[in-house]
Amino acid sequence: MELSRRTFHALAGTATLGFALTGSGSPTSAGTARSVPTGPPPPVPRADGRRHEVGFDRYSLLVDGRRLVIWSGEMHPFRLPSPSLWRDVLEKMRAHGYNAVSVYVAWNHHSPAPGRYDFTGVRDLDLFLRTAAETGLYVILRPGPYINAEVDAGGFPGWLTATEGRARTSDPTYLRYVDEWLTAVNAIVAKRLFTRGTGTVLLYQIENEYDAHVDEPSGRAYMSYLYEKVRADGIDVPLFHNDKGRNGHWTPGSFGTGGEKGRWLYGFDGYPEPDEVPPDWGHFGTGGAKGGATASPRTPGFVPEFGGGWFDPWGGSWFDGKGYAEARRTRDAAYERRFYLTNLANGITLHNVYMTYGGTSWGWLPAPVVYTSYDYGAAFDEARNATPKLATMHQIGQLLRHVPDLAKLNRGKAVQAADERIKVYHLANPDTGAHFYLLRNDSEETVTSTLPDAGIDVPVTVPARDAKLIAAGLRLGRRTLVHATVQPMLSLTAGRQDIAVFAGRRGDLAQVVLDCPDEPTPMRLDPEPAWAYNLGKLYVTAPLGVGELSRVRIESDGVDTPMLLLFADDATAVRLWPYETPSGRLLVYGPALLRSAVLRGSTVHLTGDTTALTGLEVWGPRGITHVTWNGRPVPTRISGSGSLLALRPLPGVTRPALPALDGWRRRAGNPESEPDFDDSDWTTADKETTFSTTPVPGGQPVLFADDYGFHYGDVWYRGEWTGDSGIESVSLAYSTGTQGLLMAWLDGEPLGTHRMPVPDKERARQGTWTAEAGFDLPERLRKKLREGEPEQRHVLSVLVRRMQHDMDGEALDTHKAARGLTAVTFEGGSPRVKWRIQGATTPDPVRGPMNNGGLHGEREGWHLPEYDDGDWKDAGLPAGDRRQGVTWYRTDFRLDVAPGVDASVGLVLDDDPERAYRVQIFLNGWNLGQYINDVGPQHTFVLPNGIVRTRGANTLALAVLSDGSTPSGPGEVRLTLLGAAAGGVPVKPV
Ligand code: GAL
Repeated sequence: MELSRRTFHALAGTATLGFALTGSGSPTSAGTARSVPTGPPPPVPRADGRRHEVGFDRYSLLVDGRRLVIWSGEMHPFRLPSPSLWRDVLEKMRAHGYNAVSVYVAWNHHSPAPGRYDFTGVRDLDLFLRTAAETGLYVILRPGPYINAEVDAGGFPGWLTATEGRARTSDPTYLRYVDEWLTAVNAIVAKRLFTRGTGTVLLYQIENEYDAHVDEPSGRAYMSYLYEKVRADGIDVPLFHNDKGRNGHWTPGSFGTGGEKGRWLYGFDGYPEPDEVPPDWGHFGTGGAKGGATASPRTPGFVPEFGGGWFDPWGGSWFDGKGYAEARRTRDAAYERRFYLTNLANGITLHNVYMTYGGTSWGWLPAPVVYTSYDYGAAFDEARNATPKLATMHQIGQLLRHVPDLAKLNRGKAVQAADERIKVYHLANPDTGAHFYLLRNDSEETVTSTLPDAGIDVPVTVPARDAKLIAAGLRLGRRTLVHATVQPMLSLTAGRQDIAVFAGRRGDLAQVVLDCPDEPTPMRLDPEPAWAYNLGKLYVTAPLGVGELSRVRIESDGVDTPMLLLFADDATAVRLWPYETPSGRLLVYGPALLRSAVLRGSTVHLTGDTTALTGLEVWGPRGITHVTWNGRPVPTRISGSGSLLALRPLPGVTRPALPALDGWRRRAGNPESEPDFDDSDWTTADKETTFSTTPVPGGQPVLFADDYGFHYGDVWYRGEWTGDSGIESVSLAYSTGTQGLLMAWLDGEPLGTHRMPVPDKERARQGTWTAEAGFDLPERLRKKLREGEPEQRHVLSVLVRRMQHDMDGEALDTHKAARGLTAVTFEGGSPRVKWRIQGATTPDPVRGPMNNGGLHGEREGWHLPEYDDGDWKDAGLPAGDRRQGVTWYRTDFRLDVAPGVDASVGLVLDDDPERAYRVQIFLNGWNLGQYINDVGPQHTFVLPNGIVRTRGANTLALAVLSDGSTPSGPGEVRLTLLGAAAGGVPVKPV
């Protein structure tokens, strides 16, 4: 209870807030909630060395007694293996109005073996947390231990699949390993808590979507255990869980000490389809049976995950093979407005969009359900580019940051639009008198309607399947907005004037009505706006998107400070950058991104990105006379709107040229298929028992790869026997994730390749992707066997691309389903086979355990840049040979991207889709993904800067698995430019 007591004192001691705390004394009680006034939002968070209080009531979080609406985006540091670029993404998020970043921490990414934990290099969690704090973002930390997240085994390390004990329960063996993980991760997190002033970690999640054992003692004991463990490790911020699907699971008080009131938030997630009517899941809605925020009326509405896109399985079946571009098209800016504004209108004040930057499931990270790209159709694409979806996020984010009235909303009296196709949510702030109306149009036509019930008799337009938030009675600086027909985006004071921005769709007619006691003298600074004054009200209208920014200055209306009204359409609004500095606020207009602003003397130093020739305009505190952009002075003049206006545009970017990929060299890479290959140092596969959920067939040894310490990527098996010359066929039972395959050779002769079919639903649910690959020996081989010596030695070589472990979403231990061979039977003989197995050897100390599997080339370092391929054969692409096996291709290329240019480079592979082959892509030794030519849909692979040297030499190695049934590629292999900006962040080689 310590924290809640401290929070209580902090609140009670804030005399200026002027509210009485009586009754329960808990800041979470609804009675108290009414007493906490709206107030200004907390300042931008930093590691400021001060202690902070984090509490909440039913409206919102309370940080040091001030209301905070969380507008968060999800990104996964483990899906961007270049720490320098974490800063890039975080700065972009912060600039676009997000105030928090939510991160899963994947146990498997940090732990190659029991007792071994690595937080260095691309695993440097502390660096990520420090960067977030430097950027001014709160962090919502979600280290599991189970995370789901479309990663291998739902984040469980590979080695856990071979341990005793039921995962995701209170089983003591499992909890012992959980302790190891949480101890390691919490040691880092405890040092970066916002409460301590040493970081910005604000909230912490335990488990994820845990709905399997909710009503069982072992489930409750497990959750309590996690809660106590995290508290014991010194994590004193509010904890929460992410309830799968608004079931009302794990609400405060629902699981022993773990549900302790006052320090535990209830959260649930939602991933609605675009054609759904947005659901009312918050305090103001019904939330279903017991679901949504209604399940926990005393904690603020919290969605730890709300769909910001969706993932796509192999073959691209979710988006008709069109990939993530289609995810982005169907979950576009209008989707975000409809759903996210509905969330806000339902009292959700902690809002995290999953994903905001999806990134890359590189190496063997992706769960069986996804391919390499985890772009997700998110607001930032995998290549770190801003997409049009940011228009919505930016406008709502800036609004929440600058207009505190939204942090404390009650439902207002029912209001109907004149046109009933518009659904209206009416919200009111009890302290400030501000009203908000969310107008949502779920119909297929654009609707223009008035809101007579709210006294809004000017028409407001809402496009088909879109939404719009309008405000009334809202304080804007020193004036009051009567109402407006477009959404307010921000209100701030810069220097001598108040500035308010209104934003909407291109073609919207914005009308802003202000209370003006005296008739003002507006000043038109751009051609579009017009105005009229009548009975103490000023009516300003501006068509959006005719020009760029439309400016009107209002003065002499009886208020001593002038007001600047700015009107912007989506494309313009996304280039307006408010920025807080210790000496006052700034508003910058023009560039594609503003990263930072520092005031020194009379100069404001700006850094950011431009993608094309652009103007620059700065409204700032008094006394600012000079501007620099990325270190260079920018000559300016003072404009009519009181800004510093650049005399010349800022330069755009020269798109760098990329070299062609040629000079390929190749080498066959499956010597294991040869009978005389030396496998004496391989592991003998002779275990008799396993902790796997897959049964071991009677009379056979355990062949499951995980039982021999091979957890990721390909595994080879070699079975050896003598005699038995009558063998006619062999049947190889095996188990993999989606798109697994098996290739077999007998005495060096290919028997064939078998591809894992998609199992039925129930088997997929169990994580059991098993199949039997039956191979009849070709007559030639049978003859050879028959004609050989009676005690002839035979070798059956098998390569299994086993793909990944099941995610165990239902807590059935399905991550322990076997991977690799499971049973081998023969016809025409019953040889006594001695099996040996080989997979990835020592994990790469830098790239980590999930970078490599057990291909011969990987074991020999053929993927590494330092490997000398001088004796390989020259090869031209496209290739077209027909063989079963592994072939490696390598080439080097140099990039020469100008300093100060952030170029995002991708690798494209393409070929005749009939060709049955796949490619593992290694850039400078990093396994950046898997291309399956005849499955798709991914053809473009993002190469993150830091791994790719943008000024220097790079080595690309491709490991090609071809099944011999068709000619095999690679076909076309080329570099492509996915984005370019002048600016960026300094990038250190990884
Ligand atoms: C959620 C889950 C996430 C992720 C997401 C889909 O239900 O919590 O981990 O799997 O679905 O991308």
